[in-house]
Amino acid sequence: MSTEASPSYRIVSELSRTVASRPLLSLFSDDPARFARLSVQWDGWLVDLSKERITPEAIAALLAHARDVGIEGWIAALFSGEKVNLTERRAALHTVLRQRDDTPVRVDGHDVLPDVRHVQARMHALADAIHAGARTGATGQPFRYVVNIGIGGSDLGPLLVCDALALLPHDAASGTAPDVGFVSNVDPEHIVRALQGRDAATTLFIVTSKTFTTQETLANADAARAWLRAQLGPDADLGRHFLAVTSNTAAAERYGIAKEDIYPLWDWVGGRYSLWSAVGLAIALRLGWPAFTQLLAGAYSMDQHFRTAPLERNLPMLLGALGFWNARLLGRAERVVVPYAQALARLPAYLQQLVLESNGKSVTRDGRPAPGPTANALWGEPGTNGQHAFFQWLHQGTREAPVEFIVPLRAAHPVADQQTLLVANAIAQAQALLVGRRADAIRDELVPAGAHGEDLEMQVAARVCPGNRASTMIMMPELDAYRLGQLLALYEHRTFVEAMLFGINPFDQFGVELGKTLAKPIIAAIRGEASLPGGIDASTTGLVAHVRDTMRT
Ligand code: F6P
Repeated sequence: MSTEASPSYRIVSELSRTVASRPLLSLFSDDPARFARLSVQWDGWLVDLSKERITPEAIAALLAHARDVGIEGWIAALFSGEKVNLTERRAALHTVLRQRDDTPVRVDGHDVLPDVRHVQARMHALADAIHAGARTGATGQPFRYVVNIGIGGSDLGPLLVCDALALLPHDAASGTAPDVGFVSNVDPEHIVRALQGRDAATTLFIVTSKTFTTQETLANADAARAWLRAQLGPDADLGRHFLAVTSNTAAAERYGIAKEDIYPLWDWVGGRYSLWSAVGLAIALRLGWPAFTQLLAGAYSMDQHFRTAPLERNLPMLLGALGFWNARLLGRAERVVVPYAQALARLPAYLQQLVLESNGKSVTRDGRPAPGPTANALWGEPGTNGQHAFFQWLHQGTREAPVEFIVPLRAAHPVADQQTLLVANAIAQAQALLVGRRADAIRDELVPAGAHGEDLEMQVAARVCPGNRASTMIMMPELDAYRLGQLLALYEHRTFVEAMLFGINPFDQFGVELGKTLAKPIIAAIRGEASLPGGIDASTTGLVAHVRDTMRT
């Protein structure tokens, strides 16, 4: 029996039909305890689902359905190193990267924990050596600038963390922490900008690529090498300026990176789940080892919560159930993430890879068409900036997109009372989405000012906000390395829960391969090395011809 045919799914489905048509405000008036019943606190966090189009009964039914699809077994399988990535026959053991205790975790009978700890010890030693100026470049000078070259999961996580914690006091560094830059795009502008005005003698590159085959990363690594050579001369020992992070150590060695400068990861670490591994080297170099371990500790605390908290009070579980409900049952095509924290400006981009590469699938684990929508589109920008851009669409546009407000409450760097303004705005926007603004209230305001007739009605109509638009409020006490670790692990696990409810494998990403393959003949055709293979659509052929004409003039 497919999970959609199960009695628990039928109950969820029936409830969704009832709840979908209910105005949100009526759910509040029917249940004075709604906020208390639909908000959960844990370790200083508060997650409020009461402004979502859901009821406590629907949550209970979703959790019953989650139990029916074996969620507890899946969670246990994830943590124990079972090959939950069925298509690639791999474990997805990002959790072992932040494990604090020494309980062995075996993959194919081999305890991977000592391997993890060994690489962590090397990362720690390297961070200390770079901060102390003990590891130097070809001219004997210490490194002052570290550039991570990588893309997707080999970029977005470390970039987000370094950006979010940029002003963290570097108590870690018993010397000088280097600046850090990130180059991902194959657009030459990216590396040119990253290296503009920099000194090659004090610049270290980390080539981060799980596969060490990614076109963009290798092209940028070549460009970095050429830049070093141009500045330091043909005889300089450029090897001193390169580190690699990869699971393909043989390819990194062939590329010319010394064995002792290669930091391994394993096939059981997915790219978008990899910032906790050596992929996070840029984090350790920039913020210091203690900050990196705080990040891991925060993630570990969320792991423990996810594993052990009852489903009814389990944050990833509740958020995952809600995500499934909004996408599958209510058919919401979008989901908007608005961190009220400038430090989290890169979070939406990071979540786009985490959520959409994981759950943007149309087939179930057993290869059948998914019986309904899976991950909805995800986008966002920090508040309050978003309020002056797309919030107009959220409040008065023609369709509803549930909003996730993420609000660290205590400012990391207070300036006067600005944090109060920030937090109040988040609450007010969620309230505005819920209650809207009614025509009679607007009319009462405009009539005394002399408006009347058709003009009055036009003015009123333009000002009405329908309200009745759903949102989730996620409040965290503050944003530091520990809390950021919790936040990112929360979203990882939530994405896993959604995948289990969708019945899909969140750990493969075959959809991104096709474009990579098709680019090869196009590159050759633009270069004039070969003509396009026959049978190609007229649009692609026409575009390539246009590009050749334009780029060569
Ligand atoms: O975009 C596809 C992808 O495979 C991502 O999953 C991955 O994070 C990224 O490319 C980079 O891959 P790699 O680390 O192997 O260079």
